[in-house]
Amino acid sequence: MGSKSAGKRYSEAVRWLFTEPIPEEIARKQVEKALPESAEGCDVIYSALPSAVAREIEPKFAQAGFALVSEASAHRMEPDVPLMIPEVNPDHLKLLTRQRESRGWKRGIVTTPNCTVTGLAIVLKPLVDSFSTGKAIVTTMQALSGAGFPGVPSLQIVDNLIPYIQGEEEKVAQEAKKILGTLNGKNVVPHKIPMGISCNRVAVIDGHTETLYLEFEKSVDVADVIASLEKFRAEPQRLKLPTAPEQPIIVSKEKDRPQPRLDRMQGSIPGMSVVVGRVRHGIDDKSIQLTLLSHNTVRGAAGTAILTSELMESKGYLG
Ligand SMILES: NC(=O)c1ccc[n+]([C@@H]2O[C@H](COP(=O)([O-])OP(=O)(O)OC[C@H]3O[C@@H](n4cnc5c(N)ncnc54)[C@H](OP(=O)(O)O)[C@@H]3O)[C@@H](O)[C@H]2O)c1
Repeated sequence: MGSKSAGKRYSEAVRWLFTEPIPEEIARKQVEKALPESAEGCDVIYSALPSAVAREIEPKFAQAGFALVSEASAHRMEPDVPLMIPEVNPDHLKLLTRQRESRGWKRGIVTTPNCTVTGLAIVLKPLVDSFSTGKAIVTTMQALSGAGFPGVPSLQIVDNLIPYIQGEEEKVAQEAKKILGTLNGKNVVPHKIPMGISCNRVAVIDGHTETLYLEFEKSVDVADVIASLEKFRAEPQRLKLPTAPEQPIIVSKEKDRPQPRLDRMQGSIPGMSVVVGRVRHGIDDKSIQLTLLSHNTVRGAAGTAILTSELMESKGYLG
C-alpha cells in the first residue's frame, strides 16, 4: 500500500464494509510499503493500485523477478502483457515468454480486465466459437461498487441513472476484442467482432447487468444458443482449479431473471458464474438477445485475479 496506510494494522488501514468481521489474522497484519523488498518470499503479487501508480510501480516488482497479477488498467493493452480471463484465453499466458525475452523479467505482469468486460467476454466466448457472428450491441447497467469507495455521490444516483461512465465504452470494446483474440506467434490478433457499447451507472450495490444483441451470419436456434452457453467448460474446469466454478455460465429459464440481488452469488463458487437469462431471437432468426449478470467485485475483480494466479501456478509460470 501507499504512504497513507504503510505501517498501520490492516484493520486500521481499510474501511471494512462487509457484514462479516475481518478475520483476526488479517486484521492484525501490518501494512508494508509497496516495495519489492517488502514482498520477499511471496509467490505472486496481486496489484489493485490506481492506474497511474501501477504504471510506475508494477514493472519494479516484475524487474525484481516477481509474478504480478494486476487489476489496474495501466498495462492491459500492452502487446506483450496477457489480459486474462482463464476460461476465455488461457493460452495468452504464453505472452509471458515474450516479456522474459524482451524485458528480462523472470516471471512478469499479467492483467485482468475491466469488470464490465469479464461477464460479456465469458458469454461471447462459446458463441463466437460455435457460430459465425456478426456485430454485438451491448447496454450495461453497472453497479455502484464498480466505481470504488465512496464512488458516486448519493444525490446523483438515488432516484436516478447516469448514462455515462468516462472512458468505459472504449475500454469494454477494446479489451473484449483482445481477450477474444487469437495468439498468433508472439502477438494477439484482436477479434474482429464489431461492438457498439452503451454504459450506464445504476443504483445497485453489486452486480453488473448487461443486455446483449448479437447478430449471426446464418439463422440460429435459440435452443442451440442456450445449449452452447450451458455446456461451456474451459481450462480452469478441466484442471479443477480451486476458484473455478463448475459451470462458468448458468442459464436461467425464469422470464424475469437474472436480477442482481437474487442472482449475483449463484454457482458452485459464489459470484464466479455469469448468469444469463431472457435468451430469445432478436429482429429475426439470425440474431439473439439476452441479459447477463456478473458479480463485478468477485468475478469482475479479485475472483478472476485469484483464478488467473491458480492457472499460472498449474502451468508452471510461478515456479
Ligand atoms: N479489474 C477490475 O474489475 C477492477 C475492479 C475494481 C478496481 N479496479 C482497479 O483497482 C485499482 C484500485 O481501485 P480501488 O477502488 O481499490 O482504489 P483505492 O480504494 O483508492 O485503493 C488504492 C490503493 O492503492 C494504494 N496506493 C495509492 N497510491 C500508492 C502508492 N503511490 N504506492 C503504493 N500504494 C499506493 C492505496 O494505499 P493508501 O491507502 O496508503 O493510499 C490503496 O490501498 C484501480 O486501478 C481500479 O481501476 C479494477
